[in-house]
Amino acid sequence: MTNAYDLAIRGGTIVTAADRFKADIGVRGGLVVEIAERIEGAAEEIDATGLLVMPGGIDAHVHFEQPTGDGTVMADDFASGTRSAAAGGTTTVLPFALQEKGKSLRQSVMEYHKKADGNCYVDVSFHLIVTDPTPQVLGQELPALIQDGYTSFKVFMTYEDLMLTDSELLDVFEVARRERALVMVHAEGHDAIKHVARRLEESGKTAPYYHAVAHSMVAEREATHRAISHAQITDLPIVIVHVSGREPMEQIQWARKKNLKVFAETCPQYIALTADDLKGLNMDFEGAKYVCSPPPRDAANQEAIWEGLRDGTFDIFSSDHAPFRFDGPNDTGKNNPRARTSFKWVPNGIPGVETRLPILFSEGVSKGRISAERFVQLTATNPARLYGLYPRKGSITVGGDADITLWDPEKEVTISQQILHHGPDYTPYEGMQVKGWPVKTILRGRIIAEDGEVVGAKGDGAYCARDVSGLI
Ligand code: URP
Ligand code: ZN
Ligand code: ZN
Repeated sequence: MTNAYDLAIRGGTIVTAADRFKADIGVRGGLVVEIAERIEGAAEEIDATGLLVMPGGIDAHVHFEQPTGDGTVMADDFASGTRSAAAGGTTTVLPFALQEKGKSLRQSVMEYHKKADGNCYVDVSFHLIVTDPTPQVLGQELPALIQDGYTSFKVFMTYEDLMLTDSELLDVFEVARRERALVMVHAEGHDAIKHVARRLEESGKTAPYYHAVAHSMVAEREATHRAISHAQITDLPIVIVHVSGREPMEQIQWARKKNLKVFAETCPQYIALTADDLKGLNMDFEGAKYVCSPPPRDAANQEAIWEGLRDGTFDIFSSDHAPFRFDGPNDTGKNNPRARTSFKWVPNGIPGVETRLPILFSEGVSKGRISAERFVQLTATNPARLYGLYPRKGSITVGGDADITLWDPEKEVTISQQILHHGPDYTPYEGMQVKGWPVKTILRGRIIAEDGEVVGAKGDGAYCARDVSGLI
């Protein structure tokens, strides 16, 4: 007699974005096919007694194998980055296919597919990064790529090699509006950052800490407002990514009061780190391990972020995993010779794809700041809905992919580099104690990570084309 199910997950508490209940789950052909009080007749069974059964995490903002303008090399390729995601309870990641200036966008996407195809442990789908909006890109490549399921892209308001001018932003926004793509904005005002950085350098203030001074919240707030204004003029829904504190949040709240469709993302670094971490041990180069943009702020802004996670200001919680080695081979990472001359040259970005979920669960759910349902909304359901993956992904529902993470809400772990699977040689969260840990990660019905070990294989992860956003 053949089994009715390939897998049954029994006795756990299912948590979705809306509710929680005790039930068994039956999986067949990689899909959830039944949710019932009792499921019998499965080829394989998992006893989930005492565990939370939640949708696999969707990390909607990661960078793997992305070329950099200055020769530094990202420490994660698609294999190591997605392995690390699996170990941290994440079953889908959305990395960026970056268009380098002067290159065709379509060609950049094809190159990313070559890097990813056959190498992933979890499912992937690409956002684009548009840096060179030529007439060819705006007129042909971008509309065609959006039609092909690359329905979101990021634009930058800072970084010499990535940023668009205001007039380019408006042109790109118009195309996005016409083609129904969602635009993600890196909102930091370039000239304001450059001005303050120059003054700091002139007075000999070159330690990594001064990155956090140069990348002020004023520059972030101003650019957030400018991006919102451009979106208002072009009638475009946008996502403000990696929001660091109260002032940009206020701009987002202001926009929503005017009924503008502005979505918002925040990240672990804005609840678990502060600018003081960039001081290192004594204003030394250790601080480079925390350099990211926007930088972490202070305790009051951490509190503001928590308010926003609770009250709906934030729609999604992503890692912004941007991995560099500290003591990298050939000094190509954070500790490269040029970076040691000034904070201005320290590669921006920190790793976090594996620690994103445990940090939010522990600081949020275990400490009573947010409910487990809100955790699911922020880390799986909302990213799936925002980026056109729902209902196939982002929930536990009959007919959806059986992407499921089993959580032990009582398990206490000290985060350390030793237990992580990412490419960088450090974690900015070294020594952090967390309560609540993913003990099994299941991708389309197959266990890919359990008890800290990755048991899946390269190639288990597949590419997912996406619909237009379900929220615009
Ligand atoms: O510092 C950061 N966040 N680096 C990654 C690139 C980006 O802006 O998201
Ligand atoms: Zn960014
Ligand atoms: Zn990023």
